[in-house]
Amino acid sequence: MIEFDRVTRTYPGSAHPAVEGFSHRVEPGSTTVFVGPSGCGKTTLLRMVNRMVPVDSGTVRVRGEDVASVDPVRLRRSIGYVMQHSGLMPHRTVLDNIADVAKLSGTPRKVARERAEELLRLVGLDPDLGKRYPAELSGGQAQRVGVARGLVADPDILLMDEPFGAVDPVVRRGLQEEILALQERMAKTILMVTHDIDEAFLLGDTVVLLGEQARIEQVGAPEEFLTAPANERVREFTGAEGRALRVETRDGRELVVDRRGRVRGVLE
Ligand SMILES: Nc1ncnc2c1ncn2[C@@H]1O[C@H](COP(=O)(O)OP(=O)(O)O)[C@@H](O)[C@H]1O
Ligand SMILES: [Mg+2]
Repeated sequence: MIEFDRVTRTYPGSAHPAVEGFSHRVEPGSTTVFVGPSGCGKTTLLRMVNRMVPVDSGTVRVRGEDVASVDPVRLRRSIGYVMQHSGLMPHRTVLDNIADVAKLSGTPRKVARERAEELLRLVGLDPDLGKRYPAELSGGQAQRVGVARGLVADPDILLMDEPFGAVDPVVRRGLQEEILALQERMAKTILMVTHDIDEAFLLGDTVVLLGEQARIEQVGAPEEFLTAPANERVREFTGAEGRALRVETRDGRELVVDRRGRVRGVLE
């Protein structure tokens, strides 16, 4: 669905590449989370997908097509993008902020506004909030509006850049639950980046743990990071005993269980 093939990017004036020789294939319908420390190149990787950052070498393919050969406007309209900071337009109402994205893809005004209201409900907001301006929202509400905006054109691919970064832990937890519920209802390919390993384990079915310059430390299902950490750096980053996942004995079998009590794997 999304394929990074040995991509490298050095920003002008930088001594080192932000991303060097990164390869990974994101499977259709998966929720893939790139996780790593601040500055490791997560945002750069995400923005390569919708061509907001060009690659110096290597190829990014979306739906089998090299993004460098696709019209960038058409590409961006076909991919939902939830920005690191909500990215709302301050002088447009909340409803217009969402509806504008649908209108860009050719949806008539009335339909776009109806759809925007639906999306507000879907992300757990009162449609009445649609009349407000972004400055009149709490951090958590603005983040939800950002997610609604990413979904309004019903893209099959959704990119999310630290979508819950700016909110307190309780609200963050609520938003993560919303995303889990959305995942179950919608068949989308989600590529999300975060610096929070717990969030990566909670939301990702595939987790890619990155080090500096987007060097891959380990790729796999969340439980594999605990049962088979690739190296000391992975062990360190995930925490020795694992925070999001724990091992629990049930009926004589050792199971890997997540924070929602869901079984994520069985230890042999
Ligand atoms: N527009 C830019 N110009 C110059 N350097 C940049 C730019 N954007 C990011 N960088 C640098 O590239 C590296 C990776 O940044 P980024 O992709 O934003 O990382 P992350 O999202 O993981 O925090 C960092 O060293 C950052 O300072
Ligand atoms: Mg970033």
